[in-house]
Amino acid sequence: MHTSRPVAASDRLKQLPKAEVHLHLEGCFEAAQIADWARLQGVTLPRPQSELFQFSGLADFLDFLDLACGLACTPARLAELSYGVCQRLADNGTGYADVIFNPTHWHAWHGRLEAMLDAMDAGCKEAEQDGLPSIGLCVSLLRTQSADAAAELVDRLCTLRHPRVVALSVDGNEASAGRTGPRFADAFRRAADAGLRRTVHAGESSGPEGVWDALNCLGADRIDHGVRAIEDAALVEVLAQRQIPLGVCPTSNLVLGVYPTIQDHPIEKLRAAGVAVSLNTDDPALLGTSLVGEYALCRRAFGWNDAITAALARTSIASSFANADTKAKLLAALALWQTAG
Ligand code: ADE
Ligand code: ZN
Repeated sequence: MHTSRPVAASDRLKQLPKAEVHLHLEGCFEAAQIADWARLQGVTLPRPQSELFQFSGLADFLDFLDLACGLACTPARLAELSYGVCQRLADNGTGYADVIFNPTHWHAWHGRLEAMLDAMDAGCKEAEQDGLPSIGLCVSLLRTQSADAAAELVDRLCTLRHPRVVALSVDGNEASAGRTGPRFADAFRRAADAGLRRTVHAGESSGPEGVWDALNCLGADRIDHGVRAIEDAALVEVLAQRQIPLGVCPTSNLVLGVYPTIQDHPIEKLRAAGVAVSLNTDDPALLGTSLVGEYALCRRAFGWNDAITAALARTSIASSFANADTKAKLLAALALWQTAG
């Protein structure tokens, strides 16, 4: 007689075909890797390795990115880091990811964007050859940059037309930068004209006004976080009606102090209001997140069943900037996952 053994809940979530759309390369350093590279560079770390990833909030966290990225000063280290992202995706059963990287954090590479993209691309290609998932890069502005710096980055991207780059992004701390949507409007318009997609951090360190600007000034195809849209009913209605996807990162929002507990997190309210939400890790190594963990957390906290879980996975795939072939394959596999449930 054939008896099939029940699949453990975490295995079933690992098997769930899904994409990730909000994940920073800057957030993928392992503590041991930072300690190693710091020793080789003669750099003193601000605290012991065991406490390295203890952050007091978003500002402190962003400062730390400069230190970590400053250590990735050779093509080999950048390729190693990129390969590690692909390995992390495979470990979570993630079929594809849009990966954000922000050139301002990587001091050793300033003025050498092409070399930097090539080093990342080399790590990604090696991963693909080893059968690991593929990624697209979203090159990011920092909220505190000037309009001129934004124009310069878009000029470079338009000249290079690097095949690994899928989007222009903006991240960083809106609380300290203030309102900057209008400042970047021109750069985002030109990026779209050049065939790049647009993704915008908003509604994390800004309130609903940051999300309105992402839509109205920057023409965002997708919003990173966006969760504080919940504070404005008219905005929630627009997001739902236009199906503008939000790349939500629940644990990141808890660790960086946006919400005190998962019960206070608005993802379930946004989902129930018809907003297209996906689950993501933001900065997985630094914040201690995994994609399987995010799905498990929300299923526990909000009682999501397999149909809801699959709907979120479908949003993650559909809202990614993967090519049509990758999307079709993942969506077909997702349909099978549901019938095997
Ligand atoms: N860069 C890396 N992680 C970020 C976050 N959560 N918010 C803004 N910028 C970031
Ligand atoms: Zn982010």
